[in-house]
Amino acid sequence: MKQLSNRQILLGITGGIAAYKSAELVRRLKDHGANVRVVMTAAAMEFITPLTLQALSGNPVHTTLLDPEAEAGMGHIELARWADLILVAPASADFMARLANGRGDDLLTTLCLATPARIALAPAMNQGMWRDAATQDNAELLRQRGIALFGPAAGEQACGDVGPGRMMEAEQLAELAATLFEGRALDGVQLCITAGPTREAIDPVRYISNHSSGKMGYALAEAAADAGAQVTLISGPTQLACPARVQRIDVVSAEDMYQASMAQMGSCQVFIACAAVADYRPAKAEEQKIKKSRDTMHIELIRNPDIVSAVAGHPQRPYTVGFAAETQDVLRYARDKLQRKNLDMIVANDVSDSRIGFNSDDNTVTVIDANGEQRIEQMGKRQLARQLIANIATRWSQRD
Ligand code: CTP
Repeated sequence: MKQLSNRQILLGITGGIAAYKSAELVRRLKDHGANVRVVMTAAAMEFITPLTLQALSGNPVHTTLLDPEAEAGMGHIELARWADLILVAPASADFMARLANGRGDDLLTTLCLATPARIALAPAMNQGMWRDAATQDNAELLRQRGIALFGPAAGEQACGDVGPGRMMEAEQLAELAATLFEGRALDGVQLCITAGPTREAIDPVRYISNHSSGKMGYALAEAAADAGAQVTLISGPTQLACPARVQRIDVVSAEDMYQASMAQMGSCQVFIACAAVADYRPAKAEEQKIKKSRDTMHIELIRNPDIVSAVAGHPQRPYTVGFAAETQDVLRYARDKLQRKNLDMIVANDVSDSRIGFNSDDNTVTVIDANGEQRIEQMGKRQLARQLIANIATRWSQRD
């Protein structure tokens, strides 16, 4: 599906080594159906030539603010109005600083000031520059002003450093750009998400649980709501605030979560099982606090219902997405779960790595469905959630 069909995207390129990826980005945006015009800063032209971008975009490239010839063609205010989205990729630390300060000292910053369109940035810089307090403050300020930040991704950098600051890959950026228009893709879709851990009572003061923070499920709920879905979040105990426009149902045990999920069947069109459900519960939750007596004690555990399997096996089965949190043989176990639980899609992640697993802010996953496998590199859970919702929205729109 052409997710960006007839969308007018002004691609801003600033000075950074990642500017070479912008050529590929023009192609990807066009593949998704967008009309692309390119604006380059003076520094960007040190890294890639306007001619390349002109050939790829099929439009003249805009480089200066006060160029009578360019103004006679499409003037800068006209260009600012033309855009449905200004996507700046790569966005350098200097550009972010100028934008945060409301400067209009070149064509691109001026367009950003003048445009009524949404603005998205794909930051790309050395990891030290990204981590610097000034850049972080600028990023936060820009976010607060409603500017979307795509990435940066983490990994090996051109300068040899390893860390956050890489520009995201062109295809990911194109897909994220599409999510900004996605109100339509999940508009009015009834979507249900389970999130967080469950607690299985041993006695009135003790329980069995796990380290799930709920962050991923909550980020998915937020992204789905942003994409226009009517979201019900069935949440185990977490410390997180309920995202805006999301209806939360609080549950404690796996059995509660199962009941709450089953109550959604019939109305729910997309179900995302993100919760880390306890597979077993004590056969009997003692009514009084257990006193210590013997040196060892035995708690008999019985199986909890498998919520996502029950959802996928329901006569009014929604489009069902599961997660596979694994510590070894991640893809093999995930493929097996996709089949065994009769899911439409599974999101596999490796929780043995503390940088990306439970409780962390970052995540790297592989999405597996009937169409194949797609690896999504380490990025913040909110960003990843947007990407996953974009994938789900695409599949949903392609359903029979
Ligand atoms: N899940 C569920 N109900 C359960 C257990 C798991 O809905 N009782 C869902 C999770 O929310 C997740 C998927 O099933 O989407 C896979 O969870 P996981 O714990 O990885 O799988 P298990 O079925 O517990 O498999 P195993 O213990 O063999 O890894």
